[in-house]
Amino acid sequence: MQKVRKGVITVAGLGTRFLPATKAMPKEMLPVLDKPVVQYIVEEMVASGITEIIFVTSSQKRSIEDHFDRDKDFEEYLTKKGKLDRIKPLIDLSKKVRFFYTRQSEPLGNGHALLCAKEFIGDEPFVFSDGDSIIDSKVPVVKQLLKVFYQEQASIIGVQKITDKEAMTKYGNVYAKVTKDKRLYRISDFVEKPHIEKVSPDGLIVGGMRYVLTKDIWAILESQKTGRDGEIWLADAANVLAHKKKFMAYEYEGLYFDTGNKLALLKTAIHFAKKDPEIKDQIEELLVN
Ligand code: UTP
Repeated sequence: MQKVRKGVITVAGLGTRFLPATKAMPKEMLPVLDKPVVQYIVEEMVASGITEIIFVTSSQKRSIEDHFDRDKDFEEYLTKKGKLDRIKPLIDLSKKVRFFYTRQSEPLGNGHALLCAKEFIGDEPFVFSDGDSIIDSKVPVVKQLLKVFYQEQASIIGVQKITDKEAMTKYGNVYAKVTKDKRLYRISDFVEKPHIEKVSPDGLIVGGMRYVLTKDIWAILESQKTGRDGEIWLADAANVLAHKKKFMAYEYEGLYFDTGNKLALLKTAIHFAKKDPEIKDQIEELLVN
């Protein structure tokens, strides 16, 4: 099977839950401590061996391009001030991965956004992530998925297992048959936000979107009708693909963090602050008081 080199990150949504902060600033650039959300996702992909990333963007998302681009004058200035190490992680990233950008002219859903990257990806298998979920894990989740992808030679999605049925109704649910590997399932259906009586019996949900997809997804996305809220959803296309071909779900090892609303972003920041040697003691103290 062909090596997976390319990744797609969709960042073209409007981020209305964060208005007014996101009126002129992408929600994917909101910081978790001193790093924008989308940088965590790029780092995960790069640490998994992805060497080309395409962002599906929209107007007002230009700062994402600037963030990942080199700025020699600024680097010289920081060098003189002895502060270049502050942006060293970004410089290192730019040596390992090439960035590309394409536009989604209207936010018509994540499936529609992914389709905007079709020409860039071509027939190769690729990795897909949304732009606002962080997964904290020892082994990057994309790397965990790629390992299984090469074994199974089939599209795969990262899932979590939860027991709270009420909570499950807020997520995409995955219905699947477990394999010999307890973490690996073969999918029969995807259902977005099912009724409580119909949630996945295995407790499998999609929180933090990470897929490895084959070219089979393109034809399905191209003929995909609009679904919930009049948008084109990747989960609907994935459901069609799962009915036609082997499509696996892998219960990854890692903690998923949403960053798409105020409370979730705050919780994410607290999680990472507790791990940050510079501020962890003060944060613990703050939380106790
Ligand atoms: P969300 O579903 O959180 O939507 O997108 P949103 O529009 O960004 O936010 P709200 O609901 O208005 O607050 C999840 C990810 O998918 C991208 C978003 O940019 C985000 O990274 N997305 C969503 C697109 O790129 N295009 C779309 O049409 C929808």
